[in-house]
Amino acid sequence: MKANKQLCIGFSLSATWMKGYGWRKPDSGVERMDSIEYYIELAKLAEKAKLDFLFRADYLYVSPQMLGDSANYGSPDPTLLFAAIARETERIGLVTTVSTTFNPPYVAARQLQSLHWLSNGRAGWNIVTSIEGADNFGDAPMPSPQARYARAREFTDVVRKLWASFPREAIVVDRESGQFSDPERVRPIEHSGEYFSVKGPLTLPAHSSGTPPLFQAGASDIGRDFASSLADAIFAAMPDLESGVELRGDLRKRAEQQGRHPDAVKVLPGLYFFLADTREEAQTLFETANAHFSTERRLASLRSVLGLDLSGRAPSDRVTAADLPDPDQPVRSRTHAELLRGYIARSEPTVSEVLARPEVVGSAHWVSVGTVEDVLNDILQRFEAGAIDGFIALPGGSERSMELFFERLMPQLAERGLFRSEYTGSTLREHLGI
Ligand SMILES: Cc1cc2nc3c(=O)[nH]c(=O)nc-3n(C[C@H](O)[C@H](O)[C@H](O)COP(=O)(O)O)c2cc1C
Repeated sequence: MKANKQLCIGFSLSATWMKGYGWRKPDSGVERMDSIEYYIELAKLAEKAKLDFLFRADYLYVSPQMLGDSANYGSPDPTLLFAAIARETERIGLVTTVSTTFNPPYVAARQLQSLHWLSNGRAGWNIVTSIEGADNFGDAPMPSPQARYARAREFTDVVRKLWASFPREAIVVDRESGQFSDPERVRPIEHSGEYFSVKGPLTLPAHSSGTPPLFQAGASDIGRDFASSLADAIFAAMPDLESGVELRGDLRKRAEQQGRHPDAVKVLPGLYFFLADTREEAQTLFETANAHFSTERRLASLRSVLGLDLSGRAPSDRVTAADLPDPDQPVRSRTHAELLRGYIARSEPTVSEVLARPEVVGSAHWVSVGTVEDVLNDILQRFEAGAIDGFIALPGGSERSMELFFERLMPQLAERGLFRSEYTGSTLREHLGI
């Protein structure tokens, strides 16, 4: 399966190089993370490199792991953050994350449309169903994944109907007749469903560039069905090439079965890279970023991701499919659990290998460590294998790693014709070719 001709590239606006012990370096500049100016500077760097979009994940709870030895100034609402960034940038897309599990769809539709309007058509919505946070919204426990996806479907349907309820064309501005808008064209949606009752219409008109593109994160069986029915892109956890080829092939097939073009869903994994001038330096950056993961912490993470307890096992012991817990037991994220199950069943790794996996020490993202050429080759390999349509850059280890990405790696992709050297459009829809 051939990949599309040009890569689609986003940048995570979250100083990922401060992760682990990255922030402890004397020159890390960690104190600056507390100021909007820092994010504006980063956004401008990404725009200078002509990236498709900025991206920001979001969680509606504080986990103990975020505190203590991790650099964390908290998590501002990403839609508000992007509202500030919108006024400091001109072309780059702004993909915010809004959970369908905890918000009312009317508020989400309005905030997303407002960001779209503030940014002149550059907003995108990363649809998540969330893993935790229910106790910040009432006494009910976290709904099951099935219930969360059923709600997500209806939620997204309501948001799209609300976006369509006040079309741009309803604004006529006829000074002579005195008619400013055409009330006939602004229609209530009268939605009444399992989860929501929403009359509508929305409080503001659609943007002339069209609706905000939809991203999605969560790749279980139901997650894939949901994404392939409506998403323009999926933010994917792709620890290895094999899982990527499988995921992209499957999403393309599902999109086609739902009457869409297979290219309609772009598969964009997080790419957590550690770039340095030499391989040795890059390896040191990688090790520093993971130095806080003691064996105990890794074992605890493995229990949390997969429900598998390997404490007491020798580091060189092989882990096989026979060790895997019942696949039907509830897990925090089926996506992450399935990736790890697949890897163990396929590779029969040692305990140490399992404890070093991205599913255990990170968010299951693709990790690439080395020089600009090494990481470039890694990207080319996945692209040519049909595992990716692009990626979301998560620079790791040091600010220099991020600089090397913008200053050396991105120009090489452009030189090879795999990425633009100038923007040809000014909205996110145009950048994504929608
Ligand atoms: C790559 C990736 C990124 C995610 N990012 C977020 C996020 O920013 N906020 C959030 O609340 N949930 C996030 N999630 C959780 C998903 O929205 C979803 O709730 C979870 O993966 C369970 O769905 P699943 O069974 O399809 O995996 C993410 C999941 C994945 C795989």
